[in-house]
Amino acid sequence: MSTQSLYPVSPELAENSKINEDQYRKMYQESVVNPEGFWREHGQRISWFKPFTKIKKVSFDDHNLFINWFADGTLNATYNCVDRHLEARGDKTAIIWEGDDPSEQRTLTYRQLHIEVSKFANALRSQGVRKGDVVTIYMPMVPEAAIAMLSCARIGAVHSVIFGGFSPDSIASRINDGSSRVVITSDEAIRGGRTIPLKANIDLALQSPDVKTVEKVIVLNRTGGHIDFVEGRDVWWHELMAVSSEYCQAEEQNAEDPLFILYTSGSTGSPKGVLHTTGGYMVYASMTHEYVFDYREDEVYWCTADVGWITGHSYMVYGPLANGATVLMHEGVPNWPDISRMGEMIERHNVNILYTAPTLIRALMAQATEGYPNFDSSSLRIMGSVGEPINPEAWRWYYQEIGKEQCPIVDTWWQTETGGVLISPLPGATDLKPGSATRPFFGVQPALVDNMGNLIDGEGEGNLVILDSWPGQMRSVYGDHERFVLTYFKTFRGMYFTGDGARRDGDGYYWITGRVDDVINVSGHRLGTAEIESALVAHPDVAEAAVVGYPHDIKGQGIYAYVTLNADKEESEELRQALRQWVRSEIGALASPDLVQWAPGLPKTRSGKIMRRFLRKIAADEVSALGDASTLADPTVLDGLIDQRMNRG
Ligand code: PRX
Repeated sequence: MSTQSLYPVSPELAENSKINEDQYRKMYQESVVNPEGFWREHGQRISWFKPFTKIKKVSFDDHNLFINWFADGTLNATYNCVDRHLEARGDKTAIIWEGDDPSEQRTLTYRQLHIEVSKFANALRSQGVRKGDVVTIYMPMVPEAAIAMLSCARIGAVHSVIFGGFSPDSIASRINDGSSRVVITSDEAIRGGRTIPLKANIDLALQSPDVKTVEKVIVLNRTGGHIDFVEGRDVWWHELMAVSSEYCQAEEQNAEDPLFILYTSGSTGSPKGVLHTTGGYMVYASMTHEYVFDYREDEVYWCTADVGWITGHSYMVYGPLANGATVLMHEGVPNWPDISRMGEMIERHNVNILYTAPTLIRALMAQATEGYPNFDSSSLRIMGSVGEPINPEAWRWYYQEIGKEQCPIVDTWWQTETGGVLISPLPGATDLKPGSATRPFFGVQPALVDNMGNLIDGEGEGNLVILDSWPGQMRSVYGDHERFVLTYFKTFRGMYFTGDGARRDGDGYYWITGRVDDVINVSGHRLGTAEIESALVAHPDVAEAAVVGYPHDIKGQGIYAYVTLNADKEESEELRQALRQWVRSEIGALASPDLVQWAPGLPKTRSGKIMRRFLRKIAADEVSALGDASTLADPTVLDGLIDQRMNRG
């Protein structure tokens, strides 16, 4: 395979794209020198009920923090994603859906979407949902998931989508945090030929004595599988829809009214509810979707993310639908029943833009031992990557085998907190370097700082911070504003701290090096090590646990757990499996440790703090360069841990 390190923009692409290099420089410059003027203009891309006169009111001062965009404007997110397209695009396909079983296909035009959303919004109202209420959504990848989200937004309710892979315990804590009265789910989900008991998980979550607020559970009949139906609490989606009116006026929301909450892991405590508001988020999601993917009217756009993640929110629902795009939604996974599925879907639906994750690319690459099965890729124009750093080898494989060397790759760096893409190439403007997310989007001012918070100029490596606000930025941690300030604005005062490390090269390109905090990224899923540790120590046999990430060929990072058992407990293979299963049921399958090492002792300082850098090195099998162990209370524990280290396979 070639090791080319620079892929310049072709002259035709520069000519035919929305933004070329000169335009990028000019617009970027304007966006940071004159943000008011820049965003006044680009704020118009959204339809406002009452136009905004205020643009940006922001302070990153941790003693007096506020973030407001377009604050006096009013709008409705769903009106922007659906109603405003009815006149020109009413018969255009909004959603193409392909089931896990490819023989199941559905399409919804914008007009049909409007009817479904209006009816379901009325159904929510009939169940007592009012503006400002938090509604929990735990759904498979079916159009009804998007309909549920858009219906909440239509009536000013705040949705909190929970990824279908989370366990009943995780669901319970999220429902509780948002005090949801209504939960929307389906009987089961189907992924890769297997069913997932969504409704049964909700039932278990609601059995928790801590969950006291839920009054109604709306259940979509997806598979017809058996469920326990709780009279008085559970209601069928289709029964509500059968009696619902098709007319539902979209609620007039203030730009800073909440649109949704989405939980994500941090380095401490339980997952936090990232709160996004309406106006700035919609402007930013739609604008980045248009420019980052060089989206053109009538293109088919496929994002493989699940709606349970921010990528599914911003780039499967709000961004593309605000732009009137045709979105391909897939219920299953693109490498099932085999790796040819992805190519077949691109061919079947004439996909023009594909947005996926490095972990999937690496999985395809590992399975495609004789090259990726041939498919007609002629429709494909732009390919994206998101979720974790993409290694140059996977980048080149994606470029050659899926894009057939015809499609630029946009490696998009962003976070749940940022609402939309912050650093990414623009197809017609940015020469590509495999592994680099390249340059900031309009209005975004990234910088690198050392651990003392000093800015690093020119080439260098450090902590990635953002110096000023952009419209899609999160506004708070739901119910805990102090935590918001503490997590993002106290580490480096006056700056938004991303939690990532990065390197900047001589061309000003950013190369994200990964998290610098105790967050690990497993197959693009973000997990706090503290969260997994607290699940482990909740097991009756466990005295102590320390969790770190280690390099994993497919997942990017795997989960490596060091476990100290209670003195009277025996180490055994059975217990190791039981602990993995335990974490699975406490958090979800995505958090289950790949490797569990018994640790009679952990490396601690004299004050009792676990020194994770040693644990990370041992987990990564880099034992020859462990570094200075003299600050440890008992340096000999390291020898035992090294001897017993697990085989990474
Ligand atoms: O470490 C970065 C990594 O994913 C983190 C954000 O995770 P989450 O909030 O779940 O959002 C994922 C989808 C936007 C970041 O702090 N990350 C995301 N995209 C990239 C990335 N790391 C490197 N390159 C990327 N393109």
